[in-house]
Amino acid sequence: MINVLYVEASPRKVCSASIAAATVFLKALEAQWPKAIIDRLDLWNADLPEFDGALIAAKYARLSGRDFDANEEEAWQKIAALVARLSSADAVVIATPMWNFGIPYKLKHWVDLITQPSLSFNFDPETGYRPLLKPRPTLVILSSAGDYATGTSFGRPDLATPYLTAALAFIGLSGVTVETVAPMSGRTAAVDQARERARNRLELLAGHFLEPSS
Ligand SMILES: Cc1cc2nc3c(=O)[nH]c(=O)nc-3n(C[C@H](O)[C@H](O)[C@H](O)COP(=O)(O)O)c2cc1C
Repeated sequence: MINVLYVEASPRKVCSASIAAATVFLKALEAQWPKAIIDRLDLWNADLPEFDGALIAAKYARLSGRDFDANEEEAWQKIAALVARLSSADAVVIATPMWNFGIPYKLKHWVDLITQPSLSFNFDPETGYRPLLKPRPTLVILSSAGDYATGTSFGRPDLATPYLTAALAFIGLSGVTVETVAPMSGRTAAVDQARERARNRLELLAGHFLEPSS
């Protein structure tokens, strides 16, 4: 059995470009690997705890080696479950739109929740930070109005790709593949071509995504 965590970050459930691309990819993946189980985490309908005072206190307690009080313990259990869901996945697929050069706040919320000392990374004053999760096939599907690869974004930066790549590597998910679906605005022909290009690339990638790397 292969467990694939699929994180869905677009709230547009009907005509989302990132979800459509992820659907193509996951269908191709299931055709290739019939035993794959897709664990869908829809960030807009998930119970994501607020990153509030109790949770921050718990994080700092863990960093300083202090025991939790009852509130901190309760807050910590919720995020430990979220990290366990990620940690138990054999592969990860994140489908997200670009929002204001970065990512939707729900995806940032999830990243903040799962990035925790002793659960997904460790800190040692002598040696620095050490990721605790094992690398595994990880794909980010990023859709955007502008095409940041070819320059039709008119000089605006893509901050989503470097942010997600660095944030995931920090907890151990290094070697992330980013597939873009862009441009999603402009001439219909260009948008259709971009969807088609992404579909083709994703179907190809699905063929070897879960193969052990040599
Ligand atoms: C709040 C918001 C902010 C956006 N910011 C950007 C942006 O900075 N750059 C860009 O190219 N597109 C931006 N877009 C457009 C989306 O990235 C684009 O429509 C994408 O394909 C949406 O993906 P989805 O259909 O999966 O939700 C933004 C859209 C929204 C709703």
